[in-house]
Amino acid sequence: MFDLADYSARVKDQVEAFLDRRLSASGGGAPRLVEAMRYSLFSGGKRIRPLLVYAAAEAVRGRRGLPAPTLLPAPETLVAAAVECIHTYSLVHDDLPAMDNDDLRRGKPTCHKAFDEATAILAGDALLNLGFQILIENIELHGLPSARAARVIGDATGLGGMVTGQVLDLESVSRDPTPERVETIHRNKTGAFLRACVLAGGLAADADQEQERALSSFGADMGLAFQIVDDLLDLEQTTEQLGKRSHKDAEQNKMTYPAAFGIEESRRKAMELTERAEASLGLFGPSAEALRGVADLILKRDH
Ligand code: IPE
Ligand code: IPE
Ligand code: MG
Ligand code: MG
Ligand code: MG
Repeated sequence: MFDLADYSARVKDQVEAFLDRRLSASGGGAPRLVEAMRYSLFSGGKRIRPLLVYAAAEAVRGRRGLPAPTLLPAPETLVAAAVECIHTYSLVHDDLPAMDNDDLRRGKPTCHKAFDEATAILAGDALLNLGFQILIENIELHGLPSARAARVIGDATGLGGMVTGQVLDLESVSRDPTPERVETIHRNKTGAFLRACVLAGGLAADADQEQERALSSFGADMGLAFQIVDDLLDLEQTTEQLGKRSHKDAEQNKMTYPAAFGIEESRRKAMELTERAEASLGLFGPSAEALRGVADLILKRDH
């Protein structure tokens, strides 16, 4: 029987051990900068993006009967470590006073509170660089398919996704929500990156075109569902449970799914997207059980 808790612990261990080694090996970094990067990276994130990377790689390899890679670190370890660096940078910057102005993240003071604003900006910059350095190392070690994984992640986290989404999110504060606008914000700021994690995981394992299409649909649906659930959790959970301030979105007049559609309809949409996402995985058969497990976790998580 597939055990998600066990799977998730294994992925976390591998990715965190790699990142710990990688940061120790970097050498030369200003001590305060490295301290701030470590503070934000090793602070108990759920590691959902790494889980998506691993689970997608496993679905592809299982379906094609390919063995686990022998050249280590495996491409999924490198891609997973890279996306966690990029994700952590996005959180450090998202929390800055000029953006969401948050003082709590992953159960601890935000990076700019624990250090200072300039250090948080620079730690975010260095984490973003580190993410792409690791993606390049992956190409050096594992060759061309890994170049596409890097491309997909670059496309989804910059102009064509996350950064654009963050701009739309900020521009939409205090505006009347419309279904089209909130969907565009969410697909850009969060959905595109999650889709890219799934796709890059599949590419790391040499997915064929049909598998790529399936992973892309699954990732796009789960990416949107993820942000809808994030909006719902902000409304329904306590600060202690979330490890970040709850009830912030309404306070800051953010354009969210519950603001645009109401709570019940938002929940229904998240469920519908998850069902549709899981239906995209048909061609993988049982080898997609980890991906199905992560989809379930995204929908049912409590923080
Ligand atoms: C929070 O992401 C930011 C969003 C995109 C909504 P996560 O909920 O994955 O945060 P961590 O990594 O577990 O802290
Ligand atoms: C953040 O969305 C999306 C990112 C790209 C970081 P939110 O602003 O809703 O994330 P939280 O709720 O602060 O984690
Ligand atoms: Mg934000
Ligand atoms: Mg925020
Ligand atoms: Mg949020």
